[in-house]
Amino acid sequence: DVAERVEELLARMTVEEKAGQLTQLFYFGDLAGSEADSEARATIGVADDPTGSVEEALGRGGAGSLLFVTDPAQTNRLQHLAIEGGRHGIPLLFGFDVIHGLRTILPVPIALAASWDPVTIERGQAVAAREARAVGIHWTFAPMVDIARDPRWGRIVEGAGEDPFLGAAVAAAQVRGFQGEGIGAPERVVAGPKHFAGYGYGVGGRDYDEVSVSDHELHNVVLPPFAAAVDAGAGNVMTAYMDVNGVPATGNGFLLDDILRGELGFDGFLVSDANAVRNLMTHGFATDLTDAGVRGLRAGVDLEMAVSDPAYAHLPEAVRAGLVDESALDVCVRRVLAVKIRLGLFDDPYVHEGRAAEVLSDPAHRDVARLAAERSAVLLRNEGGLLPLEPDALARVAVLGPLADSRRDTIGPWVFDYDNDETVTILAGLRARLGEGTRVDFAPGVRPGQRTFPSMFDMWGDNAPVDPEGFDDEAELQRAVDLAAGAEVAVVVVGEWQNMIGEAASRSSLELPGRQLELLQRVVGTGTPTVAVVMNGRPLALRWAAEHVPAILDVWYPGSQGGAAVANLLVGDAVPGGRLPFTWPRTVGQVPIYYAHTISHEPDNQGRRYWDEESTPLFPFGHGLSYAPFSYSDLDLSADSVGLDGTVSVTVTVTNTGDRDAEEVVQLYLHQRSGRSSRPVRLLQGFERVAVGAGQARSVTFEVGPEHRRYWNAVERDWVLDPSTFDVWVGGSSTADLTGSFEVTG
Ligand code: IFM
Repeated sequence: DVAERVEELLARMTVEEKAGQLTQLFYFGDLAGSEADSEARATIGVADDPTGSVEEALGRGGAGSLLFVTDPAQTNRLQHLAIEGGRHGIPLLFGFDVIHGLRTILPVPIALAASWDPVTIERGQAVAAREARAVGIHWTFAPMVDIARDPRWGRIVEGAGEDPFLGAAVAAAQVRGFQGEGIGAPERVVAGPKHFAGYGYGVGGRDYDEVSVSDHELHNVVLPPFAAAVDAGAGNVMTAYMDVNGVPATGNGFLLDDILRGELGFDGFLVSDANAVRNLMTHGFATDLTDAGVRGLRAGVDLEMAVSDPAYAHLPEAVRAGLVDESALDVCVRRVLAVKIRLGLFDDPYVHEGRAAEVLSDPAHRDVARLAAERSAVLLRNEGGLLPLEPDALARVAVLGPLADSRRDTIGPWVFDYDNDETVTILAGLRARLGEGTRVDFAPGVRPGQRTFPSMFDMWGDNAPVDPEGFDDEAELQRAVDLAAGAEVAVVVVGEWQNMIGEAASRSSLELPGRQLELLQRVVGTGTPTVAVVMNGRPLALRWAAEHVPAILDVWYPGSQGGAAVANLLVGDAVPGGRLPFTWPRTVGQVPIYYAHTISHEPDNQGRRYWDEESTPLFPFGHGLSYAPFSYSDLDLSADSVGLDGTVSVTVTVTNTGDRDAEEVVQLYLHQRSGRSSRPVRLLQGFERVAVGAGQARSVTFEVGPEHRRYWNAVERDWVLDPSTFDVWVGGSSTADLTGSFEVTG
């Protein structure tokens, strides 16, 4: 029994060994001791900490967990050191950022969310888990479930966008994918939803910046995805770096204990973000490293993730000085040991290196990645039905833009263990799909965009794009334009380089970096039918394109099979069915803009809008086209009136009026007309991605029960249900117009 084994071990451990179990250290593997490692450390402000010190720590039981090790031989070697070095044979727990794949790279998380398809998401993360577990990783720092309503924030790419309902469904699907039947399931890893809580609300969209989030916003918007992840059984949660309402999240007992463990019922182990415990000092919160350790522990952080110099190494002295009781450490050590036991690490701590190689090269994984990329793409515009292209009729295609043949950018941020040779770029995918019969010319046209201020992540591998030597800007642009002029179709791949998005990648502008807009404009100017393929993790300022480029396909960072997927989509072997998981602004000045705002005091008053800009977005939340048009009819509500606990069934007929089989994401939105709070104009409360054959119709039913109407009232500080009239809309986006209503009586 787990509890007995834990107690038996705990009884034999010294306070130093306990503190060790509560410490997770970075291990930079091959990087350690190298120039790149020193540079990376200097950038993030930590002293050189060569591998030796990690190994020395393992030899004395000074660390219970490591992160950043992905080589199976290395995980085995380090595991041996820990098991044989410590007195109790306690195995290491290996954690890592397996965000959207380990070797086989899935589309980025915002793309997975855009599939609006929990099955695709679960399957994708199950593959990620399988590869991770095969190399010896036991736990992933994912999913990121932070709601993001400010696309200037780079980490929007790692989440599910702006909406709590969609976010909750995506969070739960990812947890199921990572963990399978639960902790200890074979070929799965522990899931760690992050970052608790409100990390997406940094002022100005700046990463790590302070967050003010009201009680109302916290409960109704920020927490639902965490609650869903916890309910799905997530074994871990990670804290956040910034302060929330003035108190650093990692030292915030109200958030971690009262809300996460109390209200949400989380009973797993809690890890800090990297260095976030020691950074309680830099926040102007803790006085010194010992104080930081004590306050992190008191707030409820079980495991400290430390780049170097862990604060928890000072816990033994804090115990001896009477600053904290040893029993407080025991509570955390119990949780850490329990997860190791449940994972089966005491019985089977090592991995089989040959088996790892087999798993990593499993071709089935590539199919999952390709399918996920196909299902994530969002067709934003398709004037005159330019897409799909007719492959057999195409003699000459121009593929343009530097992103079109960039492997590194095709897979996106937050990948470390990818295999560049495996990655199919859009150019490669199109060439393979179109075959010998079509001439496919390529020109980058413009040089890669560069960040004005480089990031610490640029240090790693090939994260930053290389500016080509001897690139003649005007001549290259002209070459691209000439190719477009001579082609039947131009496919221009535009977007952001992957190092412009992700952690520490906030932006003050949403414009296409570099001269990409000019490239697009010149190509469109040739008169050749043009398709813009967008690679991105945040909405970009595409107003010109939305008016002048007939077809726009958003493919995000589509992953290692991305090019194959995009080629299939462009020629109609696959039909786009993804939908936007965020509201797409016209300009950065509209930010934050989200569909579920409340009704203003005078809804029709023009004062609410900008005098120089529409208040509507470029593309609404939930938007996405298909190669088949859909129509909605016969909205039927099972009751006109129900009691507070009552459920209304809402049924609608969805008809594919086109001549291709396709998929539609049927969305249900709800509005409460009156009550104890002013409720959003619309709130997503149901969705289903359905396949409908050409010319066919099908009926879709949603149950709207009390769980869809309850909300947190900031005056009563509780979940409430109000009697009211409720409006329902069902359709293909948040602007759906088929509507009905029902009464809820008190
Ligand atoms: O998991 C991440 C986290 O999201 C941001 N800081 C570093 C951690 C470990 O890489």
